Amino acid sequence: MADSKTATLTFDNKTFELPMHSPSAGPDVIDITKLYGQAGVFTHDPGFTSTSACESTITYIDGDAGVLLHRGYPIDQLAGKSHYLEVCYLLLYGELPTAAQLEDFEARVTNHTMVHEQMHNFFRGFRRDAHPMATMVGVVGAMSAFYHDSTDISDPWQREVASIRLIAKLPTIAAMAYKYSIGQPFVYPRNDLDYASNFLRMCFAVPAEEYQPDPILSRAMDRIFTLHADHEQNASTSTVRLAGSSGANPFACIAAGIACLWGPAHGGANQACLEMLKEIGSVDRIPEFIARAKDKEDPFRLMGFGHRVYKNFDPRAKVMKQSADEVLDLLGVENNPLLQVAKELERIALEDAYFAEKKLFPNVDFYSGIILEAMGFPTSMFTPIFALSRTVGWISQWKEMIADPKGKIGRPRQLYTGATYRDYVDIENR
Ligand code: CMC
Repeated sequence: MADSKTATLTFDNKTFELPMHSPSAGPDVIDITKLYGQAGVFTHDPGFTSTSACESTITYIDGDAGVLLHRGYPIDQLAGKSHYLEVCYLLLYGELPTAAQLEDFEARVTNHTMVHEQMHNFFRGFRRDAHPMATMVGVVGAMSAFYHDSTDISDPWQREVASIRLIAKLPTIAAMAYKYSIGQPFVYPRNDLDYASNFLRMCFAVPAEEYQPDPILSRAMDRIFTLHADHEQNASTSTVRLAGSSGANPFACIAAGIACLWGPAHGGANQACLEMLKEIGSVDRIPEFIARAKDKEDPFRLMGFGHRVYKNFDPRAKVMKQSADEVLDLLGVENNPLLQVAKELERIALEDAYFAEKKLFPNVDFYSGIILEAMGFPTSMFTPIFALSRTVGWISQWKEMIADPKGKIGRPRQLYTGATYRDYVDIENR
């Protein structure tokens, strides 16, 4: 971080010098940490559109160029040549593993795939019709009640064990949430399977009938995990960091991230997007929905379109589109009507001046739902799958934050516009 430049702020005939930092990539930042003390003013940036809240070495996005790098490696290379657990290692430890390191890491994750047996009873307290995300928020938060030996955040070993536990158990918990919602028995993990195949089996096997995951579907599943693994300081990651800044335990922090991810503007967009494609139903109805998306009086938005950071294209969406073609081809789902609607919607939207002007492009959620539905997942499982994939990103960012000696509790300020001081009025006088 080079610190040679400064910025000057002038107001009320006073001038303040603010230090600047130059990152290894991306725009310079003006450091305002001492601004209030020196100048007595706050900065105002609701939605954090221009605010860097932390220093990080994990993920870099150039939204104008459509670039996403994890520890410097581009997402398309990772999605094409690597696999999820290797990417987990990269995110957590900063470098690609050697063969021996990868073997050791995979063994450590695999050893932790089962959940405490008592957690089965905990699941049974939920209504069967609960959304699996609701169940996951509760169960992941409750992990701190089951794994006391990995909640001391001041102990690096406990932080490491908590990280491995979360990466290993989230697929088991997501699959259990699914099984519970459809009234089927829980399927225990099988450690001779790879991470993605194990998840597919836990979702689709039943005691009466074994399930053999197709290697191509496992590969597609693994790629979906990889494409969602991390995305720098998005809303849920920032939530995890904020929760963690108070010293909360890692399970509580990840539960907070899951809760934030659930919203339709974030991870819930994959479910909302598929529901939208179904509502559109046929290619001839697309213009009606495009018109609604452009109408300022209509709250409707094209789900799976637009991104706070990507203003060119979302590099994850490119890989996802390719994957959708491959999976549907494998499953023999030719002329899938949803895929047809999606492709035509994308084509029409990209030619439309409104979307061009506002730089709205398909994001990662636009095609993922089509793949997941073709694999047999109900829409309610789309966001839980995003959550289990993103867990490694959250935990890597949380670990980075805890290890940062400059770390402080997150505490934004505000532009207060409410009533100023007034005396309490007794009820009979109001
Ligand atoms: N359809 C129609 N108009 C849109 C859309 C959309 N999907 N997205 C943005 N706009 C318009 C918006 O109305 C606004 O217009 P104007 O300037 O005239 O008021 C302009 O584009 C900028 O939108 P914004 O809401 O200020 O942009 P943002 O950066 O705050 O929001 C977003 C980004 C992703 C929340 C938004 O694009 C959106 O709601 N998209 C649909 C939901 C979605 O697909 N979310 C998944 C994001 S990728 C996965 C993830 O990270 O979770």
